[in-house]
Amino acid sequence: MKTKKEEDRKDSPVESQPAVPVRRTFAQDLFDGVAPSYDTWAQVLTFFQYLPWRRFLVSQMALRPGNLVLDVCTGTAGVAMEIADHHDGRIVGLDASQLMLQAGLRAVEKKNLDGRVQLIQGRAERLPFPDGTFDVVVFTYLLRYVQDPDATIRELSRVLKPGGELLSLEFGVPEALWVRALWEAYNRVVMPVMTIPVSRGWHRVGCFLGPSIRDFCQRCPVDRLAAIWRDNGIPLVETRPLFKGAAIVMWGTKGR
Ligand SMILES: C[S@@+](CC[C@H](N)C(=O)[O-])C[C@H]1O[C@@H](n2cnc3c(N)ncnc32)[C@H](O)[C@@H]1O
Repeated sequence: MKTKKEEDRKDSPVESQPAVPVRRTFAQDLFDGVAPSYDTWAQVLTFFQYLPWRRFLVSQMALRPGNLVLDVCTGTAGVAMEIADHHDGRIVGLDASQLMLQAGLRAVEKKNLDGRVQLIQGRAERLPFPDGTFDVVVFTYLLRYVQDPDATIRELSRVLKPGGELLSLEFGVPEALWVRALWEAYNRVVMPVMTIPVSRGWHRVGCFLGPSIRDFCQRCPVDRLAAIWRDNGIPLVETRPLFKGAAIVMWGTKGR
């Protein structure tokens, strides 16, 4: 006999999709190394802005009852659970790191959300869903880890229904000179040093983040990202810098 949760899921258009075999990547190694303590240290290292940024992102979602949402790079399912807390409907969380997903699954079960939040392992670059499956697609801190941001946005847009909403949250580099100076000092010195006693995995993250964000923002500044969204079927893109530009939220609607 099927359980209530299995019954709830049986009509899901994503249920029958086989997981794509996942080749190990740098990002998987990086996040597998910090998964059990991810939520705590992500908050501490962002001066407790991690959750407010996430809440702002979710507050921009135009969700209707029964909508199906894809949370790409769900990690420990924080965004997926934030959506579930504020909207009904179902959320599929996808991530490359098995250990992040395991931590996410524990959190989802603890909050009794496992009937509405489904977690699967996969890569953003090749999503295991048919065209136009989701009403909303959201991704957080993804594009620095993919080789071709343009092709990845195209793939995310592919699985979005016409008229559906795409949203993202990424780190940014503040523009104002004095904030930029503080940002540089924090990323070049403070974070690498303060993560040494935490763990080897967090020290690796602490050394990696600054150069990774700086490099990505040079290659793909916000206006270039907005152009990529437009070229891939999301014509009107809004952007909102948060915390003096240390994070950027973008959202837009796919053309019909
Ligand atoms: C900084 S964490 C963010 C987790 C979560 N979105 C949050 O806001 O807490 C980035 C996540 O992206 C995942 N990731 C990186 N590259 C990926 C890819 N190409 N496909 C799927 N997941 C990826 C990592 O495994 C990691 O869990």
